[in-house]
Amino acid sequence: MANYLVRAVRSVEISASNLDRAAGFYGNVWNLQLQASEPDARYLRGTGRYHHILGLHAGPAPMIIRVVFDVADRDKLQALHRSVSAAKAGPLTPIVDLAGPAGGTGFGCKDPEGRNFAFVCGVMDHPGENPTVKDRPIKVTHVNLNCADHDATSAYFTDVLHFTMADDTDMLRFMRCGNTDHHSVVLARVKSTTLNHIAFEMPDLNSVMRGAGRMKDNGYPIEWGVGRHGAGNNVFAYFAGPDELPIEYTAEVEQVDETYVVRGPDYWRFPPGRSDQWGVTEPRSARLLRLWTIFRFSEDGWKVPGR
Ligand SMILES: [Fe+2]
Repeated sequence: MANYLVRAVRSVEISASNLDRAAGFYGNVWNLQLQASEPDARYLRGTGRYHHILGLHAGPAPMIIRVVFDVADRDKLQALHRSVSAAKAGPLTPIVDLAGPAGGTGFGCKDPEGRNFAFVCGVMDHPGENPTVKDRPIKVTHVNLNCADHDATSAYFTDVLHFTMADDTDMLRFMRCGNTDHHSVVLARVKSTTLNHIAFEMPDLNSVMRGAGRMKDNGYPIEWGVGRHGAGNNVFAYFAGPDELPIEYTAEVEQVDETYVVRGPDYWRFPPGRSDQWGVTEPRSARLLRLWTIFRFSEDGWKVPGR
């Protein structure tokens, strides 16, 4: 197995223009569970072991504060810090004890295009997974990042953060790290440094369908899906959340190991008129395409990892 330094996406921290309304949505409709509250923040967990998978921070939206990556131990954290420091791609903090409700140790940095990342270990995670609940997300399984300079960001992920490429299509490059999911980060060839979407893993296809129904009942129509992607083979449904945050329910992402054969755009191209394997879904909505343009990373989200 490749010597991965990053284990997975742990959480995403975003700003919310109306904190209570956003927390209500992610708790009652998106179906996460409130784990911790601060006067200006709410932290929500899935059924997986991570302390929280979504942090909401009162502030001007749309804005993404940071993506937080999970690192297995202090040795790997230090190796990653050395690698990020040597790359000189952007500012970074020292390794520090984290002040947020999840505790832990880590550092923050900016990538070559100004995105804010944090890398953490030793977090106060839950002792075990919660029982699987139909239509309740388990974890954030991937983030999809639009790239104005796709080559620079892709090289950063492979050379500095030690991800590997899982597959490559005309629009998307799928990046793997230290778990068995086909991908944990996707780098989109969309000429912007905005967020493309955050994907929350559901237990199965039926849960994606039930979750999509619940979203529809609450006034959040499906913007793309339900369908099954090509690379990664996961089922999907996309929505616009509060502040027009692009979010995905997904399930059944392909589990891979080092024998997985990486393929390129010629292999993954769909026939004309199709945007998934099944051919049932309508194309992406105009609204979804607009969502890709609006969430940018904050200026200073790299400075305070863990909160
Ligand atoms: Fe996705």
